Amino acid sequence: MNTAEKLARYVLPTYSRFSVSPVRGEGTLLWDADGKRYLDFCSGLATCTLGHGDNALSRAIARQAGDLIHCCNLYQIDKQAELAECLVEECLELQGRVFFSNSGAESNDGLVKLARRFGRARTGDKAESRHEIITFHQSFHGRTLGGIAATAQSKVKEGFDPLLPGFHHSPLNDLESLASAIGPATCAIMLEPIQGEGGIHLATPEFLRGVQDLCEQKDLLLLLDEVQCGLGRTGNMAGWRSIEPSLTPDAVSWAKGLGGGFPVGAFWVSDRLTSQNKPLFELLGTGSHGSTFGGSPLACAAAQAVLREVIDNDLPQRATLHGQTIRATVEGWQHQAITEVRGKGLLLGVGLQAAAFDAPEGTPASIHLSKELAKSGLLAPPAGPDTVRLMPPLTVSEEEIHEALGIFRHTLDQLCN
Ligand SMILES: Cc1ncc(COP(=O)(O)O)c(C=O)c1O
Repeated sequence: MNTAEKLARYVLPTYSRFSVSPVRGEGTLLWDADGKRYLDFCSGLATCTLGHGDNALSRAIARQAGDLIHCCNLYQIDKQAELAECLVEECLELQGRVFFSNSGAESNDGLVKLARRFGRARTGDKAESRHEIITFHQSFHGRTLGGIAATAQSKVKEGFDPLLPGFHHSPLNDLESLASAIGPATCAIMLEPIQGEGGIHLATPEFLRGVQDLCEQKDLLLLLDEVQCGLGRTGNMAGWRSIEPSLTPDAVSWAKGLGGGFPVGAFWVSDRLTSQNKPLFELLGTGSHGSTFGGSPLACAAAQAVLREVIDNDLPQRATLHGQTIRATVEGWQHQAITEVRGKGLLLGVGLQAAAFDAPEGTPASIHLSKELAKSGLLAPPAGPDTVRLMPPLTVSEEEIHEALGIFRHTLDQLCN
């Protein structure tokens, strides 16, 4: 049996997989067992921040694995303290406290628990305590029961009801709808400043400012899901600042790029005072939340190595410049199959004109194009039916970008003439 056959035989069929089987990577490049080379503009879905086989990251993992892989949270973990300090002081530059998880969905579950405590603290133990969170159409917040309830895409919820109650979905960038969706039970608004899985849709600066104003007026928490857009990819360590620098969220979730491929997630909670005159983070006090693996010495050493490389080499600035190059090149083609380029930095989505593709019956244009690009040696994943994402490692070179865009253009021309 080959890999595809073994996966089909032994692994749950939850993923629709492309016929690409990488066994080795270096920087932006991947190779399969037959030596076929790919430019990786997928980066493990915006995860391999430093590309593949990065020296600083693999050395940090090897060194820490030799010293201490795991230690539970009953004890003082030096690497966890250092990573939290870096996230607070260097990445956010906003005071608060961090909790470590293992994935994006888990981090978002933490935000939901924070919101529930916040709603409860305001109304006491009354039955009508505030617990409702507003999220946005096309959002994606993960696959746990909390994550699918928060996600406003019906495909992730199908057949899993009864869902966790207390979520309302509102259209993105529509302040009027949002204002009218806020009710007596609302306690928080949660959003991705740049929606990733939903197709690279950006919240506008005006909308973000409006959300912040509504949160202040109605005493709601402003929760940002930066699992995909956070920590440098969009051109800023705080993803929202690449859209609206003045925003001050109450809590932020991360995963993906934080570990550069090593599984680690986290969320941060502000120290701002609540109406009860207590720091917000105190709502998640001793015993309120936990994780066996979250914040292990190994995960934290890996994440710390990633953040040091990103910050010390100013990779967010590189992401901005490279993003501008990609956008200018693709827009300059004025190709009939492309509607627009959306995104910031190296979190980019190329909108496709579905009618321009002669895709097989039932295959969305994005998947058809992603498959053809992979055949030509470029990995660029779909996001929804009519968007293909370009999100290489932040360490990608100018030459690799030109090579990738050459493949992209050539493939488009072949598919749509
Ligand atoms: C914005 C966002 N939130 C949450 C998640 C879930 O993260 P994970 O797959 O690590 O649970 C994702 C994953 O794509 C995401 O893009």
